[in-house]
Amino acid sequence: MRQLARISDDEADDESKRHLGAGAHNVTFCVHKERHFRPPETANMAVGVPPNPIGSYAIDGFLPDKEALWKYPAISDGWFRIHNTIRAEMGKFRAMLVRVSQETVMQDWQIDALKMYWKGHFQIVHTHHGHEENLFNPMLKERVELPAKPEKDHEQILKLMNKVDDEVAKISSGAGSTLQPVLKAFDKYAPDMKNHLTEEDNICVPLIRAYFEPKTVGDKVAQIMKKMPKTEMGAFVHHQGSQAEFQKFMAQEGIPFFVWYLEFKKCRTMYREKMETLVQRVLTGVQPANTSKKELADAINFDPSISWKVA
Ligand SMILES: [Fe+2]
Repeated sequence: MRQLARISDDEADDESKRHLGAGAHNVTFCVHKERHFRPPETANMAVGVPPNPIGSYAIDGFLPDKEALWKYPAISDGWFRIHNTIRAEMGKFRAMLVRVSQETVMQDWQIDALKMYWKGHFQIVHTHHGHEENLFNPMLKERVELPAKPEKDHEQILKLMNKVDDEVAKISSGAGSTLQPVLKAFDKYAPDMKNHLTEEDNICVPLIRAYFEPKTVGDKVAQIMKKMPKTEMGAFVHHQGSQAEFQKFMAQEGIPFFVWYLEFKKCRTMYREKMETLVQRVLTGVQPANTSKKELADAINFDPSISWKVA
């Protein structure tokens, strides 16, 4: 078996260093105007609108008059981007389940990979729900009547995830073992989660941009990014598609370019080692030699309709 080794750099990403060097100011996160925004390439490129007129959600005399202050589109919002990360992981986990279910006899390493990937996905969803419940939703409720459903849906999603968790825990390599119970549980969870993510995209993201200044939201985003577990931060970074795409996000959030080298690149490598290599190995049967895009190409590009497309 080939050993997993870190690569020194991600050659396809280097171009962005030239673009963003001049955008750095200081180590304090602040809202930064991105003058040459180009949206990331992804299939999930839409943030919709709430079911009711945006002004009808107002409370305490607040007005939906902040949208014009935002210098980047809603699809570049961190809230939308983390949802796409979750979508991508769901697609990859299902692809892993389907691939392994084609085996006559499951191998131990395949079972371990499924268990580890599911555990990582569960953790990032748990962390993300915590950010919504403890930071963003309370903030929204200061100025709008936030519909109860998106937050309440977290309870049902957790129940569905716990059922997947139970079935994943039972996977074994014994005679007659099958992944059908896991697939069945996962196929109950994933559609609900996708609907939930879309609902939050269409309600929470437009409301926060209409009722809050970028600086206020940016401070919350900075809090999250400083405390987020490194592998989960790596999931977010990895699923932006490239260093260039992630550095656009950094610039929009006022994060100095060098933080890529101090922090984010390491988080991405950690995530690729812990999670994306599992996808690559399960899909191809070959252990990736390192965490480069080339070695992880099948995992990264397995389904452009779900995953961020990497050119
Ligand atoms: Fe969410």
